[in-house]
Amino acid sequence: EDWLAMSVYRNIVWFLKGINEYTRNGFQAASKQFVDKDMEVAVAGRTFMITGAGSGIGKATALAIAKKGGTIHMVCRNKEKAEKAKADIVKETGNKEIYVHLLDMSEMQKVLEFAEGFKKKYKQLNVLINNAGCMLKQREVNSEGLERNFATNTLGVYILTKSLIPLLEKSSDPRVITVSSGGMLVQKLQSDDLQSENDHFDGTMVYAQTKRQQVVMTEQWAKAHPNIHFSAMHPGWADTPAIAMAMPEFHHAMREKLRSADQGADTVVWLSVSQAAVTLPSGCFFQDRRPVSTHLPFAWTHTSPEQEQKFMTRLEELSKSIQAR
Ligand SMILES: NC(=O)c1ccc[n+]([C@@H]2O[C@H](COP(=O)([O-])OP(=O)(O)OC[C@H]3O[C@@H](n4cnc5c(N)ncnc54)[C@H](OP(=O)(O)O)[C@@H]3O)[C@@H](O)[C@H]2O)c1
Repeated sequence: EDWLAMSVYRNIVWFLKGINEYTRNGFQAASKQFVDKDMEVAVAGRTFMITGAGSGIGKATALAIAKKGGTIHMVCRNKEKAEKAKADIVKETGNKEIYVHLLDMSEMQKVLEFAEGFKKKYKQLNVLINNAGCMLKQREVNSEGLERNFATNTLGVYILTKSLIPLLEKSSDPRVITVSSGGMLVQKLQSDDLQSENDHFDGTMVYAQTKRQQVVMTEQWAKAHPNIHFSAMHPGWADTPAIAMAMPEFHHAMREKLRSADQGADTVVWLSVSQAAVTLPSGCFFQDRRPVSTHLPFAWTHTSPEQEQKFMTRLEELSKSIQAR
């Protein structure tokens, strides 16, 4: 079947690209082009919110920004892990402006309440880093009946970002960075089955779809909110708890080749603090400090502006239905 052949084609091209670029060697090759001076910035007085900052790429990002003096709001669901990560960061950096907020990003009402509360309490937010993410292999729904990969990676990110936009717009040099994935390259945006109810449930592909959705949201936000600098990015294949748990075979086979969490976080940090990042257009998808294509060659993953608009309208409707509860 044509569809199957296309899917196999996309996955093979993506994997070969990954072996070259997403690995530790890929990072080392790309880093030859990095400009060290880009990262030599002090960010004292600037405020950063990082979701999923208790482990992996989120924690590495928090640590790197804390070293530069930034105020950090860690948004995590697990209190013990979050407090431990905070203590590690304070100890290693001496920066005491690190705050923990407990939130389950897969529960939409809670995300909305948190964002609205944050907006009332704090006067500024310079950078929002949407890093928390999950790849659930079995179909699960949250208390609101929403599929949990979609709720965490797409609608939760949508609601958090949209609610915080007024606060970001009041703050200087505001930025929103969303940690997507190169895995999104195998998926074309779809918005007809956002709850993954219709077909056989393939968690890896549902995850990749939500990561495609993050890229489309980023492009659309960039157009709608020109005062904020939006980016999506791919961290590469980094050795983190998420990879070890969600993809144990992949993790085992690739363990020698995976990036460190710090290497995975490099582009997140660069997008968050460097001046170079904001000289590039808003709405791009980054890999190793460079904007890259959001489509594989000949992969038929492009969508029309109407399809993208329909997707955004659907998210707005879902978020309105949460607000109305
Ligand atoms: N590692 C890679 O190779 C790779 C590749 C492509 C993209 N990414 C993306 O990178 C981001 C960070 O992942 P990671 O690799 O660093 O793995 P990780 O260490 O497991 O980080 C994921 C974080 O998200 C948090 N999280 C998940 N569901 C949540 C929820 N419902 N509410 C609040 N927090 C939640 C996790 O919290 P708990 O600790 O409580 O689970 C964890 O802190 C994810 O968006 C992932 O999709 C990673």
